[in-house]
Amino acid sequence: MAHDKDLIDESYCSIPSRIFKLLPKAKLDFSLYKMNTANGKYYPLTVPGAPIAHNERQSISQDCDDGLIFIKSTEIHHCIPVFAVKLNLVLQSIGESIPDHDLALLIIHGLKISSTSIFVDSVKLNFDEFNDTIGTVAEILHRRPDLLWLMIPLLDKTHSLVNKSVSTGVIGAAVILLGRDLKPDLNVFRDALSALLLCDIGMHMLPEFVLGKEFCLTRDEQKRIRQHPIGSVKLLSETKKINKSALRAILEHHERMDGSGYPRGVTNEHLSWLGKLCGAVDSFVAMTMERPGKKKLPIVNALKILYKESSQYDPNIIYALEKVTYRD
Ligand SMILES: [Fe+2]
Repeated sequence: MAHDKDLIDESYCSIPSRIFKLLPKAKLDFSLYKMNTANGKYYPLTVPGAPIAHNERQSISQDCDDGLIFIKSTEIHHCIPVFAVKLNLVLQSIGESIPDHDLALLIIHGLKISSTSIFVDSVKLNFDEFNDTIGTVAEILHRRPDLLWLMIPLLDKTHSLVNKSVSTGVIGAAVILLGRDLKPDLNVFRDALSALLLCDIGMHMLPEFVLGKEFCLTRDEQKRIRQHPIGSVKLLSETKKINKSALRAILEHHERMDGSGYPRGVTNEHLSWLGKLCGAVDSFVAMTMERPGKKKLPIVNALKILYKESSQYDPNIIYALEKVTYRD
């Protein structure tokens, strides 16, 4: 079996032809790879910095349509949003830019790959790469919060730790940047985005069968699930790259204002705003995701439940959440 590190080095992302067609005629500072369908291996097709001939462009574009052209993630710092920024810089030099819808897709795709690398592979091995992705995504969204309107409808509502992390990150970012009048500075926003994306990283230490269980959890299983905010903080503390306010919010994301939450059962005055935000968005996302044996709730019903439980959730946060998720 391949070692984790080999898998990271061999990670590629495909380019849709509509993006390739926007690339200028010269000087990509990364290689394009083509997949050999016979053996599933990738080989470099272009040389970084060298122009691509006209006839080559046509055949590469066709291969993009067939899903055969890729970029090696190590050449774009393991990070699709970084690639998007780089690509946009190249395009801007010829008066073009990535269409917003494609940029929204690239950011979601990048968040998904980065979340998978730590939720499914290894927090310890991949945290730096994840952190780079978050930094870049935070910069893009802080500058262009309007992209979040395009990203929310693209979220995958099938329940999994990765999909839930990405949805909580994106919807929480929208609450912060579009749902309120106050705009935090970039560093504060970046920490908030990290907290939203990483709340449930401690779940990854639980056995698969517990995660898939919706009902009939044993007392021991319930106890283990209720410890996951502490597990998240423990795991992340080892990375030493996450800010204290983000760690605090992660620890608090299942606490409730009336003290009915866990793991410590503390009340409103002991909770940070970011902790309350993570809690409200996490609950909203959980209710609006499809799980085996459980239909997702319509957005309006999930919001009604949160409003009804006003002793648990901050009504101002729910109002901001409604502003960014509900359009009648
Ligand atoms: Fe959680």
